[in-house]
Amino acid sequence: MKMLVDSANISEIESLLDSLPIDGVTTNPALIAGEKRPFKQQIKEIRRLLPDHLPLHAQIIGKDCAGMMEQAKDLHDWLDGNVWIKIPVTKEGLRAIQQLSKENFRITGTAVYTAAQAVLAAKAGAGYVAPYVNRIDNEFGDGAGTVKTIVGLFSMYGFHCKVLAASFKHKGQILSVMEAGSHEATISPALFGKLASISRYRPGY
Ligand code: G3P
Repeated sequence: MKMLVDSANISEIESLLDSLPIDGVTTNPALIAGEKRPFKQQIKEIRRLLPDHLPLHAQIIGKDCAGMMEQAKDLHDWLDGNVWIKIPVTKEGLRAIQQLSKENFRITGTAVYTAAQAVLAAKAGAGYVAPYVNRIDNEFGDGAGTVKTIVGLFSMYGFHCKVLAASFKHKGQILSVMEAGSHEATISPALFGKLASISRYRPGY
Protein backbone atom coordinates (compact mmCIF):
# COMPACT_ATOMS: atom_id res chain seq x y z
CA MET A 1 0.00 0.00 0.00
CA LYS A 2 1.35 3.39 -0.97
CA MET A 3 1.58 5.92 1.85
CA LEU A 4 1.30 9.62 1.16
CA VAL A 5 1.62 12.50 3.60
CA ASP A 6 -1.41 14.73 4.21
CA SER A 7 0.09 18.14 4.92
CA ALA A 8 0.73 21.63 3.60
CA ASN A 9 3.67 22.32 5.87
CA ILE A 10 6.95 22.61 3.98
CA SER A 11 9.28 21.56 6.78
CA GLU A 12 7.10 18.61 7.82
CA ILE A 13 6.94 17.36 4.25
CA GLU A 14 10.69 17.84 3.75
CA SER A 15 11.51 16.02 6.95
CA LEU A 16 9.24 13.08 6.13
CA LEU A 17 10.58 12.80 2.58
CA ASP A 18 14.02 12.63 4.11
CA SER A 19 13.27 9.99 6.69
CA LEU A 20 10.47 7.69 5.51
CA PRO A 21 9.44 6.00 2.24
CA ILE A 22 6.79 8.58 1.33
CA ASP A 23 4.88 8.00 -1.92
CA GLY A 24 3.48 11.50 -2.46
CA VAL A 25 1.61 14.37 -0.82
CA THR A 26 -2.06 15.26 -0.45
CA THR A 27 -3.28 18.59 0.74
CA ASN A 28 -6.52 20.47 1.18
CA PRO A 29 -7.64 24.10 1.57
CA ALA A 30 -7.86 23.88 5.38
CA LEU A 31 -4.28 22.60 5.64
CA ILE A 32 -3.04 25.35 3.30
CA ALA A 33 -4.98 28.04 5.18
CA GLY A 34 -3.26 26.84 8.36
CA GLU A 35 0.11 27.83 6.86
CA LYS A 36 -1.02 31.50 6.56
CA ARG A 37 0.65 32.09 3.22
CA PRO A 38 -0.92 32.80 -0.18
CA PHE A 39 -2.51 29.64 -1.59
CA LYS A 40 -0.71 29.81 -4.94
CA GLN A 41 2.72 30.34 -3.40
CA GLN A 42 2.25 27.48 -0.92
CA ILE A 43 0.96 24.93 -3.41
CA LYS A 44 3.72 25.73 -5.91
CA GLU A 45 6.34 25.32 -3.22
CA ILE A 46 4.94 21.95 -2.17
CA ARG A 47 5.04 20.70 -5.78
CA ARG A 48 8.63 21.93 -6.13
CA LEU A 49 9.68 19.87 -3.08
CA LEU A 50 8.65 16.64 -4.75
CA PRO A 51 10.51 14.66 -7.37
CA ASP A 52 8.34 14.22 -10.46
CA HIS A 53 7.58 10.56 -9.80
CA LEU A 54 5.82 11.49 -6.54
CA PRO A 55 2.27 12.84 -7.01
CA LEU A 56 0.71 15.89 -5.40
CA HIS A 57 -3.07 15.67 -4.88
CA ALA A 58 -4.22 19.31 -4.57
CA GLN A 59 -7.79 20.26 -3.71
CA ILE A 60 -9.94 22.97 -5.27
CA ILE A 61 -12.38 25.05 -3.22
CA GLY A 62 -15.11 26.00 -5.70
CA LYS A 63 -18.74 25.33 -4.75
CA ASP A 64 -20.28 24.91 -8.20
CA CYS A 65 -19.10 23.11 -11.31
CA ALA A 66 -17.97 26.28 -13.11
CA GLY A 67 -15.95 27.48 -10.10
CA MET A 68 -14.38 24.05 -9.64
CA MET A 69 -13.40 23.87 -13.31
CA GLU A 70 -11.87 27.33 -13.20
CA GLN A 71 -9.78 26.46 -10.15
CA ALA A 72 -8.74 23.11 -11.58
CA LYS A 73 -7.45 24.94 -14.67
CA ASP A 74 -5.59 27.46 -12.48
CA LEU A 75 -3.90 24.62 -10.57
CA HIS A 76 -2.99 22.99 -13.85
CA ASP A 77 -1.39 26.23 -15.06
CA TRP A 78 0.53 26.87 -11.82
CA LEU A 79 1.87 23.37 -11.17
CA ASP A 80 4.29 21.39 -13.25
CA GLY A 81 4.32 17.63 -13.41
CA ASN A 82 2.61 14.98 -11.40
CA VAL A 83 -0.60 16.60 -10.13
CA TRP A 84 -4.03 15.20 -9.29
CA ILE A 85 -6.91 17.61 -8.75
CA LYS A 86 -9.01 16.71 -5.71
CA ILE A 87 -12.71 17.43 -6.20
CA PRO A 88 -15.37 16.68 -3.58
CA VAL A 89 -17.83 14.05 -4.79
CA THR A 90 -20.99 16.16 -4.63
CA LYS A 91 -23.55 16.63 -7.39
CA GLU A 92 -21.64 19.67 -8.70
CA GLY A 93 -18.34 17.91 -8.12
CA LEU A 94 -19.45 14.96 -10.24
CA ARG A 95 -20.30 17.32 -13.11
CA ALA A 96 -16.85 18.87 -12.84
CA ILE A 97 -15.15 15.45 -12.61
CA GLN A 98 -16.94 14.30 -15.73
CA GLN A 99 -16.03 17.36 -17.76
CA LEU A 100 -12.45 17.68 -16.52
CA SER A 101 -11.64 14.02 -17.02
CA LYS A 102 -12.83 14.33 -20.63
CA GLU A 103 -10.24 17.09 -20.95
CA ASN A 104 -7.59 14.69 -19.59
CA PHE A 105 -7.24 16.22 -16.13
CA ARG A 106 -6.27 13.68 -13.51
CA ILE A 107 -8.94 13.70 -10.82
CA THR A 108 -9.17 12.43 -7.26
CA GLY A 109 -12.74 12.32 -5.99
CA THR A 110 -12.56 13.37 -2.36
CA ALA A 111 -14.84 13.65 0.69
CA VAL A 112 -16.18 10.17 -0.05
CA TYR A 113 -18.42 8.70 2.67
CA THR A 114 -20.21 5.94 0.76
CA ALA A 115 -19.48 3.25 -1.80
CA ALA A 116 -22.16 4.78 -4.04
CA GLN A 117 -20.23 8.08 -4.17
CA ALA A 118 -17.05 6.16 -5.01
CA VAL A 119 -18.67 4.27 -7.89
CA LEU A 120 -20.20 7.47 -9.31
CA ALA A 121 -16.82 9.23 -9.14
CA ALA A 122 -15.13 6.29 -10.90
CA LYS A 123 -17.82 6.25 -13.59
CA ALA A 124 -17.37 10.02 -14.04
CA GLY A 125 -13.67 9.46 -14.75
CA ALA A 126 -11.85 9.92 -11.42
CA GLY A 127 -8.55 8.04 -11.19
CA TYR A 128 -8.70 7.96 -7.39
CA VAL A 129 -11.36 8.20 -4.71
CA ALA A 130 -10.58 9.27 -1.16
CA PRO A 131 -12.92 7.77 1.48
CA TYR A 132 -12.76 9.61 4.81
CA VAL A 133 -12.19 6.71 7.18
CA ASN A 134 -12.30 8.42 10.57
CA ARG A 135 -15.27 10.57 9.64
CA ILE A 136 -17.16 7.46 8.43
CA ASP A 137 -16.22 5.71 11.68
CA ASN A 138 -17.70 8.63 13.58
CA GLU A 139 -20.85 8.98 11.51
CA PHE A 140 -21.77 5.46 10.32
CA GLY A 141 -19.40 3.16 12.17
CA ASP A 142 -17.18 1.35 9.63
CA GLY A 143 -14.65 3.32 7.58
CA ALA A 144 -12.44 0.33 6.78
CA GLY A 145 -15.52 -1.71 5.83
CA THR A 146 -16.50 1.02 3.36
CA VAL A 147 -12.97 0.95 1.91
CA LYS A 148 -13.20 -2.83 1.53
CA THR A 149 -16.56 -2.54 -0.26
CA ILE A 150 -15.19 0.09 -2.66
CA VAL A 151 -12.04 -1.93 -3.44
CA GLY A 152 -14.23 -4.99 -4.08
CA LEU A 153 -16.65 -3.12 -6.36
CA PHE A 154 -13.85 -1.52 -8.39
CA SER A 155 -12.27 -4.91 -8.88
CA MET A 156 -15.58 -6.70 -9.64
CA TYR A 157 -16.61 -4.16 -12.30
CA GLY A 158 -13.14 -3.51 -13.73
CA PHE A 159 -12.85 0.19 -12.80
CA HIS A 160 -9.30 1.51 -13.12
CA CYS A 161 -9.98 3.91 -10.25
CA LYS A 162 -7.87 3.40 -7.09
CA VAL A 163 -8.67 3.94 -3.44
CA LEU A 164 -6.67 6.57 -1.56
CA ALA A 165 -7.98 6.20 1.98
CA ALA A 166 -7.87 9.43 4.03
CA SER A 167 -8.89 10.92 7.40
CA PHE A 168 -7.18 8.84 10.07
CA LYS A 169 -6.96 9.56 13.74
CA HIS A 170 -5.15 6.45 14.97
CA LYS A 171 -2.79 3.71 13.76
CA GLY A 172 -5.40 0.94 13.96
CA GLN A 173 -7.46 2.63 11.24
CA ILE A 174 -4.45 2.58 8.90
CA LEU A 175 -3.81 -1.11 9.49
CA SER A 176 -7.52 -1.78 8.94
CA VAL A 177 -7.54 -0.12 5.52
CA MET A 178 -4.39 -2.06 4.57
CA GLU A 179 -6.25 -5.27 5.44
CA ALA A 180 -9.23 -3.98 3.48
CA GLY A 181 -7.02 -3.79 0.36
CA SER A 182 -6.79 0.01 0.01
CA HIS A 183 -4.34 0.82 -2.79
CA GLU A 184 -3.05 3.90 -0.99
CA ALA A 185 -3.53 5.90 2.21
CA THR A 186 -2.75 9.49 3.09
CA ILE A 187 -1.56 10.06 6.62
CA SER A 188 -0.84 13.13 8.74
CA PRO A 189 2.77 13.81 9.80
CA ALA A 190 1.78 13.25 13.45
CA LEU A 191 0.38 9.82 12.68
CA PHE A 192 3.41 8.94 10.53
CA GLY A 193 5.49 9.70 13.62
CA LYS A 194 3.41 7.25 15.64
CA LEU A 195 3.55 4.58 12.92
CA ALA A 196 7.32 4.81 12.92
CA SER A 197 7.62 4.45 16.68
CA ILE A 198 7.42 1.34 18.80
CA SER A 199 4.37 1.00 21.02
CA ARG A 200 5.16 -0.22 24.51
CA TYR A 201 1.58 -1.18 25.12
CA ARG A 202 0.43 -2.86 21.91
CA PRO A 203 3.43 -4.62 20.36
CA GLY A 204 1.30 -5.92 17.44
CA TYR A 205 0.75 -2.32 16.31
O1 G3P B 1 -7.18 14.44 3.58
C1 G3P B 1 -8.19 14.04 4.46
C2 G3P B 1 -8.78 15.23 5.13
O2 G3P B 1 -9.19 16.17 4.19
C3 G3P B 1 -9.90 14.89 6.05
O3 G3P B 1 -9.30 14.47 7.17
O4 G3P B 1 -8.68 14.57 9.50
O5 G3P B 1 -10.13 16.36 8.55
O6 G3P B 1 -11.05 14.07 8.87
P1 G3P B 1 -9.84 14.91 8.60
